Amino acid sequence: MKRTFAIIKPDAVSAGHVGSILQRIEEAGFSLVALRLVQLTKADAEGFYAVHRERSFFDTLTTFMASGPVVVLALEAPDAIVKWRSLMGDTDPAKADEGTLRHQFGSSIEQNATHGSDGPETAAFELGYFFPSIELG
Ligand code: RTP
Ligand code: MG
Repeated sequence: MKRTFAIIKPDAVSAGHVGSILQRIEEAGFSLVALRLVQLTKADAEGFYAVHRERSFFDTLTTFMASGPVVVLALEAPDAIVKWRSLMGDTDPAKADEGTLRHQFGSSIEQNATHGSDGPETAAFELGYFFPSIELG
C-alpha cells in the first residue's frame, strides 16, 4: 500500500504546529497527494471513528475531534501506512519515542497531535471518507 490517510488533530492545529508537522512529513520523504483544512461536526467524527463506538473514550474523542479545525491529508510513500505510524509514534505521547511527532507535539493519550490509518482497509475507508476520487488522482 503506497498511500495512507493522516490527520493533524485540533490540538496541533490550534497550537500552531501545522507548518512544523508538514515540514516533518516532507523531510521524511512522503509526497502530498491531497490536503485540506476541515471543521468536523460531532457526527462527522463519530462516522470516522465508528470502529471505536463501543470504547469508553468514544464520546470524549469525537468531541475533541470536532473541537476545532483539523488538517486531513493523503500521503504517499513506499510502505506509507507503516512509515507514517512510525513517524507518529505510540498513541500515548508519554510512551512515544523521542523524535516522533506525538512525543514532540502530543499532550495526552487523547490529544496526541496526529492520526494515521492502521491498515490497508482502514486507509481505503478513511481516504474515501474525506477525499473524492478526483482529488486523489
Ligand atoms: P489514531 O487512530 O488516532 O491514529 O490513533 P491510534 O491508532 O494510535 O489509537 P487508537 O487506539 O485507534 O485510538 C484512536 C484515538 O483515540 C484516542 N484515545 N484515547 N483515553 C484513551 O484511553 C484513549 N485511547 C485512545 C486517541 O486520540 C487515539 O489516537
Ligand atoms: Mg487508530
